[in-house]
Amino acid sequence: MKLQLSTLTAGFFSIASLDAASASQCRCVYGQSCWPSDSDFSQLQSLLSQPLLYPKPTASQCYSTSGASSDCSDVIANYTNGPWRSDMVGSMEAPNWESYIFQNGTIAACYPETNITGACDQGNVPVIAVDARTPADIQAAVNFSVTHDLRMVVKNTGHDFIGRSAGRGALMVWTHNMKNITHDAAFVPEHQENDSCLIGKLCAA
Ligand SMILES: *[C@@H]1O[C@H](CO)[C@@H](O)[C@H](O)[C@H]1NC(C)=O
Ligand SMILES: *[C@@H]1O[C@H](CO)[C@@H](O)[C@H](O)[C@H]1NC(C)=O
Ligand SMILES: *[C@@H]1O[C@H](CO)[C@@H](O)[C@H](O)[C@H]1NC(C)=O
Ligand SMILES: *[C@@H]1O[C@H](CO)[C@@H](O)[C@H](O)[C@H]1NC(C)=O
Ligand SMILES: *[C@@H]1O[C@H](CO)[C@@H](O)[C@H](O)[C@H]1NC(C)=O
Ligand SMILES: *[C@@H]1O[C@H](CO)[C@@H](O)[C@H](O)[C@H]1NC(C)=O
Repeated sequence: MKLQLSTLTAGFFSIASLDAASASQCRCVYGQSCWPSDSDFSQLQSLLSQPLLYPKPTASQCYSTSGASSDCSDVIANYTNGPWRSDMVGSMEAPNWESYIFQNGTIAACYPETNITGACDQGNVPVIAVDARTPADIQAAVNFSVTHDLRMVVKNTGHDFIGRSAGRGALMVWTHNMKNITHDAAFVPEHQENDSCLIGKLCAA
């Protein structure tokens, strides 16, 4: 199952990269020298309505800070509970999206059974997140990601079956707590002339 999904993901990204000028270049991710400094993140923080979050995989609370086994009963009891998962910034709807498969086949993951690897790996879970509550929060997060060429993912309350709500070493824009809806009847998306463009027809860019 994991192999099929990763093949699907690989296929998607190779298609998506065809039209990108940066086809041969990946975005900056955590751990690389291009990753923003603490002071860059402080500057981002000053533009946000909420504290920056540091997502952890669902099963991370099964591990103590020393990596040893810790209380896991809550995680095991709720492991397949979608609403429980969606309330947590680092928890994906399906566990496979939290794990990362290296090209050599090694899986980086955080298992609820702490005796499988003895360590909780961040896997495919983004390392930092903006808890977006306002349009300004999202503008700041997107602008920061563009400025630093970061891998940026959006996670809301549902899930993305191509796995785009997760991304190893990424910055996440978490929109789960952004619940207000305002209907603006006059709004027309840029480059879209009328509703016929919205139902699947190709429109001139
Ligand atoms: C999670 O599991 C605990 C028991 O460990 C239970 O008390 C709690 O209600 C569960 N949470 C949800 C959202 O189901
Ligand atoms: C696979 O690659 C990862 C990342 O480079 C590395 O950490 C790991 O040790 C490798 N595993 C094996 C079995 O070579
Ligand atoms: C690993 O831990 C699980 C519970 O988390 C337990 O059921 C299982 O027996 C353990 N396996 C080994 C080999 O220790
Ligand atoms: C985006 O970020 C750049 C670099 O920090 C800044 O100069 C610019 O004013 C920002 N633009 C917006 C619209 O926030
Ligand atoms: C969301 O709507 C409520 C009720 O209309 C309002 O009090 C609140 O300020 C709004 N929040 C944001 C972030 O717009
Ligand atoms: C809507 O846009 C399509 C595509 O550009 C165009 O063919 C059509 O005539 C437009 N309809 C109206 C009512 O403007």
